[in-house]
Amino acid sequence: MAKWQRFLWLVFALALSSCRQDMHDQPRFKALAQSDFYSDLRSARPPVEGTVARGQLRSDSYFYTGKVGSDPGDYMPFPVTEEVLKRGQERFNIYCAPCHSRLGDGNGMIAQRGFRHPPSYHEERLRKAPLGYLFSVMTDGFGAMPSYADQIPADDRWRIVAYIRALQLSQNATEADTSGQQVPSPPAQFEEPGSGATLAVPVPRSAEAGEEQK
Ligand code: HEC
Repeated sequence: MAKWQRFLWLVFALALSSCRQDMHDQPRFKALAQSDFYSDLRSARPPVEGTVARGQLRSDSYFYTGKVGSDPGDYMPFPVTEEVLKRGQERFNIYCAPCHSRLGDGNGMIAQRGFRHPPSYHEERLRKAPLGYLFSVMTDGFGAMPSYADQIPADDRWRIVAYIRALQLSQNATEADTSGQQVPSPPAQFEEPGSGATLAVPVPRSAEAGEEQK
C-alpha cells in the first residue's frame, strides 16, 4: 500500500468514527408531544385495555376493600400480633385521634373545636360492626369524614382496624374476658387523695429543710 493510500484510509476511519449515534439522541418523540404519524395525533400508544401498572394488580380484593362481594367481611387478612397492635395504636393516634380521641369516644380536639362530632366507637352498633366495615370507612370515607386511603397504606389501615377492636374491648371488658384470672386491684397507697388512704409520694429532696438556701 502506498503511503498516500494509507493516509486516505486514516482519514476515512477518522471520518467514520464521528458517525456514531448515542441512544440518548436517537430520533424519538418527546413525552406527550403531538405526532402526525398516527391518526389520533398522539405520539404515545395508549396501553392495551386492561393493562395493570406494576404493583397495582390488587388481586387480593379483600385486603384493599375490606369487602367480600359487596358486604364487609369480618376477619383480619393477617394475624394480629403485639407488633401489629402497637403499630395500629401509633397510626391511630396520629391519624384518627385528632377527631376520635385516643379513647375513641369521638371527643378529639378537632371535634372539641367545632368539627362534626364522630360517633363513639363504644356504641353498640360500632362494637358489633364487622372489621371490614371499619376498614371500608377509612378507605372510602364516611359522611363528613374524608377517605384516608391516600395517606395510610392498606396494611396500616388493617393494623388500625385491629387496634380499634382492642380499644372497644378495653372499654367493654367484663370479668369473663379475664378467663378466670384475678384482676389485681390497685395497691391502697395509690388511691385518690382524700379517700383516707395515704399517698406514698416521696418528698422531693429540694423541699427538705434548708437545701435551697445556700
Ligand atoms: C377530621 C376528623 C376525623 C378524622 C381525622 C377521622 N375521622 Fe372518623 N369520623 C369523623 C366524623 C365526623 C365521623 C362521622 C361522620 C358522619 O356521620 O358524617 C366519623 C366516623 C367514623 C366511623 C364511624 C362510621 C359509622 O358507621 O358511624 C369510623 C369507624 C371512623 N370514623 C374511623 C376513623 C378512623 C379509623 C380514622 C383514622 C384513620 C378516622 N376515622 C379519622 C371524623 C374523623
